[in-house]
Amino acid sequence: MKIYIISDIHLVAPDTTSKGMDSAQRLQWSFDDLATNHADAAFCVLLGDLADHAEAEAYRSLRSMIASVRTPVITLLGNHDDRATYLAETPEAETDADGFVQAVRDTPMGRLIFLDTAETGYVTGHLCAKRQAWLAARLAEAAGTPVYLFMHHPPFDTGAKVDQLKFKDGAALAAMIAEHGQVRHIAAGHTHRICGGVWRGTAFSNLGSTTYNTGVHLTEMPGTGARYDESVNVGIMLVTEEQIVLHAHDVNPYRQPLPMVLFPQKRLEEIYARGGKLAAD
Ligand SMILES: [Fe+2]
Repeated sequence: MKIYIISDIHLVAPDTTSKGMDSAQRLQWSFDDLATNHADAAFCVLLGDLADHAEAEAYRSLRSMIASVRTPVITLLGNHDDRATYLAETPEAETDADGFVQAVRDTPMGRLIFLDTAETGYVTGHLCAKRQAWLAARLAEAAGTPVYLFMHHPPFDTGAKVDQLKFKDGAALAAMIAEHGQVRHIAAGHTHRICGGVWRGTAFSNLGSTTYNTGVHLTEMPGTGARYDESVNVGIMLVTEEQIVLHAHDVNPYRQPLPMVLFPQKRLEEIYARGGKLAAD
């Protein structure tokens, strides 16, 4: 199963930019890559921070862009989003019984659970008692089935200053994961930085943004808080029973390919044919 993940798109009203960047153009590059190279993806997940300033116009743009995507798209909210505005502009949005933008998809590889960690008035992520109860019920009804969690805010630390703005109900989440014992992977955004690892025994991936990305703020050295207009990264997650792998991929169509002559395909094919052996006997 392939899942195409796009994070922190920070859309703005048409004909405006987000910090000088055309965030709609970058999302369109991602959707174009999805259509051209990954039409076999089961889902496309937008991992929150859909709009930069939560403008109604930005959500309207997003809705019209999604309308031409053939892959099923699932959207999460982030701290830049406004739930009421998003829902007002997205009448088909899926919510739980309490009005949170949370959803479930059951697949041959297990259950995908999409969490709403946005909390009005906070940059940090939260899962209130109602949302925790919803998650516990979704885990319980899928007992014994592998589960993949998608959430804007990471519950894990990345070693960077942004950890102060992470998901704040990690203890409750960890207790639920431990109790139910079937969560296989957590995918999060928010940090505008790609990394991966293991949190309390559960594998995680952290996706970068399609707009600006952050430096590695691992020290308090001056200048480490810089943001960069760098690769326009999306994540391509391949899930099998044996493993999960996440590719970070730059969808910028203007990146420069190196001349193919530098990588003689014939020689590579010969090595493949020898099962990796460098030279023939
Ligand atoms: Fe963001």
